[in-house]
Amino acid sequence: MVDADQARNPPVIVVGVTGGIAAYKSVTLVRELVRRGADVTVIPTASALRFVGVATWEAISRNPVQPGLFDGVAEVRHVALGQRADLVVIAPATAHALAQLAGGFAADLLGTTVLASKAPLLVAPAMHTEMWDNPAVQHNVATLSDRGVHLIGPITGELTGGDSGVGRMAEPLDIAERAFGLLGDQSWSGRRVLISAGGTREAIDPVRFIGNRSTGVMGVALARAAIQRGASVTLVHAHLEVPLPAGVVGISAGTAAQMRDAMVSHAPDSDVIIMAAAVADWVPETVSDTKIAKRDIGETWAPVLVRAPDILAELGAVKGPGQLLVGFAAETASKASEREASARAKLASKNADVILLNTVGEAVGFGDVETAVTIFFNASPQSLLVEGTKTSIAERLVEALQDR
Ligand code: C5P
Repeated sequence: MVDADQARNPPVIVVGVTGGIAAYKSVTLVRELVRRGADVTVIPTASALRFVGVATWEAISRNPVQPGLFDGVAEVRHVALGQRADLVVIAPATAHALAQLAGGFAADLLGTTVLASKAPLLVAPAMHTEMWDNPAVQHNVATLSDRGVHLIGPITGELTGGDSGVGRMAEPLDIAERAFGLLGDQSWSGRRVLISAGGTREAIDPVRFIGNRSTGVMGVALARAAIQRGASVTLVHAHLEVPLPAGVVGISAGTAAQMRDAMVSHAPDSDVIIMAAAVADWVPETVSDTKIAKRDIGETWAPVLVRAPDILAELGAVKGPGQLLVGFAAETASKASEREASARAKLASKNADVILLNTVGEAVGFGDVETAVTIFFNASPQSLLVEGTKTSIAERLVEALQDR
């Protein structure tokens, strides 16, 4: 939505469209940027115009589109657009476009605009998996990333040839969200954040498991909030019921043991670690290779469970200097004083820096619902109560961590 400030002083976004079939999806991207109040100028390359024409870009952006380097020379457009821009987005970026960006080529209006701009550059690559995997392309991506260019995607999914794999352009609405994030607070830029999300499942036999009701909404909201502020985020996820946010590196870890291994191996490279996943506390001692039949068990059954690794405590024991460790405490006790005492005890016993206490129950706390979380800091006797949607709670938590 457009607020009054944006209407007076809209952010100026240049959208470069290069010659891939995903160009048609960038129509949705441009429409969303305009809907959210941006002043958008589209620069299609010559090959992009073979997919979507000038009339479409002009109608959707509500600005004239003059794609040629020698159009409007009197206005010195080849530098004027770049100088005016608050943000440059290139979507889709083909393998050729990545090479041109990495090489600093100024062969067309988009190339000159990028070189003339000091604004952040967001690039959404799209190509076939084989091309994306090619060392030349990966080298160009690494060059751009080292240079501070923001990359989003590509994601895994269906590709144009009917095949599927990595290479699909990030979803237009995710690109728009990231674009607006780049126009805002980027105070987490350069921070490496490791988050766990979802609920683990521990197999009893090939068809049964012990699990929990976590959906992963909170961990995903935290990942999104950190990405919005410019962090690089690795999300270790177990059985999410919501999609992975664009821009995260996702690692699937469905059991407590898998999650432990993933978290322990990535922790040394992380500045902030958030254990938002609901991890099993006990796991079956043995897993049957075949489905356990009722006739073999009888009327009651007490499978032996053994303690699962306590990942948060393990990460706390090896916490590096400057590393911030955040845990959750899901409590069902009805007395607030008992819930708080338990959260404070976890803060100490697991050597965490921050614990988020949320009350859970049959109809409270799970999924994309409004909830209340109390944040406890080891360095302070005070706590902070945050209420609202999980998205707004995640934003507030990231703000609160910012000061630590
Ligand atoms: O001890 P408790 O399970 O209540 O602590 C909750 C916190 O510990 C959460 O942050 C959760 O992600 C983490 N945890 C863990 N490993 C477990 C169980 C919980 O890291 N096996």
